[in-house]
Amino acid sequence: MCVACRSSDRDQERVQPVDIIRVQGGNALSGTVHVSGAKNSALKLMAATLLAPGVTTLENVPNISDVHVMGKVLKGLGCSIEVADEHTLKIDTSSADSWEAPYNLVAKMRASTAVMGPLLGRFGRAKIAMPGGCNLGARKIDMHILGLEALGVSFDTQHGYIFADAEDGMHGTVVTLEFASVGATENLIMAAVRAKGTTIIDNAAREPEIVDLADMLNKMGAKIEGAGTPVVTIEGVDELHPVTHRVIGDRIEAGTFIVAGALAAGEDGIDITGFNPHHLGMVLKKLEIMGIDIERIPDGVHVRRAERIAPVDIQTLPFPGFPTDMQAQVMVLSALADGNSVITENIFENRFMFASELVRMGAQIRIESHHAIVRGVDHFSGAQVVSPDLRGGAALVVAGLVAEGETDVSAIHHIDRGYERFCEKLVGLGARVDRVSVPDPSDED
Ligand code: UD1
Repeated sequence: MCVACRSSDRDQERVQPVDIIRVQGGNALSGTVHVSGAKNSALKLMAATLLAPGVTTLENVPNISDVHVMGKVLKGLGCSIEVADEHTLKIDTSSADSWEAPYNLVAKMRASTAVMGPLLGRFGRAKIAMPGGCNLGARKIDMHILGLEALGVSFDTQHGYIFADAEDGMHGTVVTLEFASVGATENLIMAAVRAKGTTIIDNAAREPEIVDLADMLNKMGAKIEGAGTPVVTIEGVDELHPVTHRVIGDRIEAGTFIVAGALAAGEDGIDITGFNPHHLGMVLKKLEIMGIDIERIPDGVHVRRAERIAPVDIQTLPFPGFPTDMQAQVMVLSALADGNSVITENIFENRFMFASELVRMGAQIRIESHHAIVRGVDHFSGAQVVSPDLRGGAALVVAGLVAEGETDVSAIHHIDRGYERFCEKLVGLGARVDRVSVPDPSDED
């Protein structure tokens, strides 16, 4: 092959198109947006189906890439999944015959580790790839392991995998979590439902998604009390049976659209439906302090645009505190406030990466350790920015709605992990948002 041909092949290889989200700022939003089922609930409910051999039907499942990854994890374990309609999955776990969550899937989505508790409950063993670091920091699973050890599970790590063994059975005990970890609470509940005797989880996480999980498991025949409080009591049972269950609405997707409405709604405001506003209590309270007018309506809220945004002091905490998953979106609002705000991130390291992208749009943000000091500016200007993670990416799109000119948000696979048809829903509200294919900007020499 001649040199010229080789180099033109190289050029073709290099210019691979990628999807970005292009936002033209300045359009007023109106109408209603309906949020999808909660990502963080659906993923754990899918894992929990393993505990009940047979066909469990999950309704209101969001059509997002994280759900597709969990589907692959379950199929790899021997389950079959029928997509009855876009949001209804019939998961047949009767033929599950493997207990391994492989590295390629755990590396793609850390929540794959949620199958550990159900596999221990069903088979008495699990082999789970160790989740490495991710863009939110170290994100360990030591509390999952300590809690399961207390239930009688023994652990070994080899070649990047965790081998969990409970073939002699698990027994109920008291587990006190050092921190109210969502994932550890869920894995412990899903193992303890099949342990002998009573397990008490002290300092349990209280997130609404945990209540949803306990509701489904109780329908399946489990005996769980106290989900949604710091003390969860689980009396082990011999078997669980398949059920039909509807996933709760996604409070974080709702919160993202509330921020969009607070910034960009026209005179009539917008309605956000499909979720329970009680699940966003602290977010709504802080937004009201910022001067946002939010009215409860059946199945959601009505939001009006803020004439003046007041500065705010927020720290992220486990539920019912302010959720870390809303930190980036509210930082967008505070960046346009009339004064200085302080946002403290207590849950994840590295969750301020989004701030430097927002600075490229004109925000004034100083990061000091786990505090962001945000000095309000009077406008954003459209720019090319990169999604650093799921929530940060969505927040950048929302910032683009009120920026002067055009904002191109790249690395949008992060957004696809957790927001179903994000662009279409924004367009439905009247935004000028498009998913467009461009040559990969990161491919330039
Ligand atoms: C879940 C949610 C995520 C949300 C988070 C906090 C899912 C799929 N993800 O993540 O969207 O932001 O809750 O509300 O449901 N930690 C340890 N050791 C452990 C477990 C956790 O040190 O064994 C640390 C983590 O590194 C993190 C903090 O505790 O700094 C919170 O983690 P956790 O509550 O477990 O969050 P996830 O379940 O990973």
